[in-house]
Amino acid sequence: MIVAIDGPSGTGKSSTSRAVAAKLGLSYLDTGAQYRAITWWMLTNGIDVNDAAGVADAAGKPVIVSGSDPAAPTITVDAVDASGPIRTQEVTAAVSAVSAVPEVRARLVELQRTAAAEALAGIVVEGRDIGTTVLPDATLKIFLTASEEARAARRTAELKGKEAQDLAATRAAMAKRDAADSGRKTSPLAKADDAVEVDTSELTLDQVIECVVTLVEE
Ligand code: C5P
Repeated sequence: MIVAIDGPSGTGKSSTSRAVAAKLGLSYLDTGAQYRAITWWMLTNGIDVNDAAGVADAAGKPVIVSGSDPAAPTITVDAVDASGPIRTQEVTAAVSAVSAVPEVRARLVELQRTAAAEALAGIVVEGRDIGTTVLPDATLKIFLTASEEARAARRTAELKGKEAQDLAATRAAMAKRDAADSGRKTSPLAKADDAVEVDTSELTLDQVIECVVTLVEE
């Protein structure tokens, strides 16, 4: 059982993916965390994230390990816990440039396919290109969407207390990241033809989880 859950940020993708994996006893992989982790490594090692050739040269260097427990997702970079640092605004602002570099994608897609192959009970994999590129033979593909208003409101609530950013700034940053993620040449953010699209704008998190669990069990 391989469940691919794609979509932009603020659609409830991570919370839904983790809850579905936990409910169904499946492993969990957050591929966005891997792109963030490699971005964080580039930033901390003084690599200019806008220099695609420099990023490509360094793409093979960091050792990135993702935990598979949906109740406690972990990610380490060169054996250092990176769960906190990968969520900063600095990483969020730089991640689209790094993830557009084909060498970065090739490296991480290989890790992602290995994780899926090793998850004996099955896995929920969340990202932007899982259904189209990483695991095109997934058992079930979900594409989550939501209105820009709903997404920005959720993201602002998520950031509250951590990093001050108002709704308008969050919305602008999200739109910029979406445009970059959708516009890149190598495996852009996209819905697979055979994915089920779920608009989460008017749904509670529990309703989205229920909807996906029902689709898995069908
Ligand atoms: O999901 P999250 O917001 O953590 O993803 C961070 C970034 O990682 C995205 O904005 C995108 O640039 C990149 N990403 C990607 N392909 C994926 C998952 C994430 O390019 N499968």
